[in-house]
Amino acid sequence: VTIYVPRDAVALGLGANRVARAIFAGAERRGLDVEIIRTGSRGLLWLEPMVEVATPEGRIAYGPVTPGDVEALLNAGLAEGGAHALRLGKPEDIPYLARQHRLTFQRCGVVDPVSVVDYREHGGYRGLEAALKLDAEGIVAAVRESGLRGRGGAGFPAGIKWNTVMLAKSEQKYVVCNADEGDSGTFADRMMMEGDPFNLIEGMTIAGIATGATRGYIYLRSEYPQAFETLKEAIANGVKAGVLGANVLGSSKAFHLEVRLGAGAYICGEETSLLESLEGKRGIVRAKPPIPALKGFLGQPTLVNNVMTFTAVPYILEHGAKAYADYGMGRSLGTLAIQLAGNIKRGGLIEYAFGITLREIIEDFGGGTASGRPVRAVQVGGPLGAYFPDHLLDTPLDYEAMAAKKGLVGHGGIVVFDDTVDMAKQARFAFEFCAVESCGKCTPCRIGATRGVETMDKVIAGIRPAENLAVVADLCEVMTDGSLCAMGGLTPMPVMSAITHFPEDFQRRGPMSV
Ligand code: NAI
Ligand code: SF4
Repeated sequence: VTIYVPRDAVALGLGANRVARAIFAGAERRGLDVEIIRTGSRGLLWLEPMVEVATPEGRIAYGPVTPGDVEALLNAGLAEGGAHALRLGKPEDIPYLARQHRLTFQRCGVVDPVSVVDYREHGGYRGLEAALKLDAEGIVAAVRESGLRGRGGAGFPAGIKWNTVMLAKSEQKYVVCNADEGDSGTFADRMMMEGDPFNLIEGMTIAGIATGATRGYIYLRSEYPQAFETLKEAIANGVKAGVLGANVLGSSKAFHLEVRLGAGAYICGEETSLLESLEGKRGIVRAKPPIPALKGFLGQPTLVNNVMTFTAVPYILEHGAKAYADYGMGRSLGTLAIQLAGNIKRGGLIEYAFGITLREIIEDFGGGTASGRPVRAVQVGGPLGAYFPDHLLDTPLDYEAMAAKKGLVGHGGIVVFDDTVDMAKQARFAFEFCAVESCGKCTPCRIGATRGVETMDKVIAGIRPAENLAVVADLCEVMTDGSLCAMGGLTPMPVMSAITHFPEDFQRRGPMSV
């Protein structure tokens, strides 16, 4: 009998290792021949650890399983997919999953993450095989025609960036994956690296072949130790299997890949500071131009993309640009990995075509708040994203539609708050976050964030709130216009959206509310 137990960080945090051990011990006592395969997560986080068993009808899921449930589950015939209160049926039929458009995440939670054989059996490497039949221009054209935009947050057209690196003349070019997933409430990159790392490896390899870069680096945040181990194992297995190294898939193309760990700074997710850090220096933002596509790692042309950008590519090459571009709306094509978190009943990973509204995500998928209280504010796009009130929840997730409402899609993180949230404290937090994480290179951000915290403290204490809010608005204007990068430049977005949409939280404050 084959039983699948996730080894994703969320499942591990909820006791998946103990569940796996209990299944193994219980099966042994019963003389059952059980093979336990450790997978990634399907992203239905409120059901983790979600255990699956292979049956003649397909996989049957159970969840959330605690170690204490295992005996009863085995007694109920877990090995044959037997009836039990925790039985969820076929995972692909669970409405949360059945409604999604899983193009990029199709294998996550399904395959053994470190097995090249399993990856290929589930359709892996067909994108690279297709790419190897094209020339560099052909690969770049497919990426351009798919409409894929950078999934790290800025939404810059991937095809244009790839083209810039492809055309750059140099002895050595590089492909760098930004896996410094620092946004609050985001976990798509982590889930992918822990659950289907070969999708990333394949996407980066295609990028290397397209741009003429024979070396790649995954810059991973140190807070992701499971992803680190999984990536290292997957890369080593990839080299052994000949999908990485001197002759990729037996071709004349070379691609060598390494993982590098960051040291815990949010700003190292900004591409130029990431490159500084990758070069072994302190993570300080470089002025652009020159853009990394022309002068990046060690001064050479470098393609820097997010995990989600690279992992969209194998699907595009396998199925064609049009198949991908058929999803989405306007100029936001394909699917977005939406990460639903915060005060929410059913948090998790929702891969869906651009255009779905925030309300559909929060109500239909999320089932409302975990506390059962009304939703009051929703922050979209990480700590630098805007807070949206109820009347903006019908905004579709689309780069332009969100920008029109002074918001961000960002990396697709959504954090939900109920009506107990104090938006003045959230505004203060945005400044505080910027003050802590600022690299210190430019004055509007380094000084502005600290003055912002002090001024918000006065507002919260009820000291001349109108006057101090005018100071906050002034600081925000200077930070937006004068900051060198998005850290200082976007911090005003959460601050000003909180003040604009929730003005009642900024008035009539007294000393007691500090
Ligand atoms: P940006 O707009 O400056 O650049 C976007 C990308 O396009 C960069 O890689 C840049 O080098 C490239 N580019 C620009 N012009 C180009 C050209 N002509 N040819 C080739 N490439 C070109 O934005 P930035 O500063 O890279 O990112 C800001 C975004 O990052 C924010 O909107 C925010 O949503 C997001 N963000 C994401 C976080 C995460 O954890 N994923 C954390 C913090 C912010
Ligand atoms: Fe550094 Fe902030 Fe300036 Fe960005 S905006 S360069 S983080 S000081």
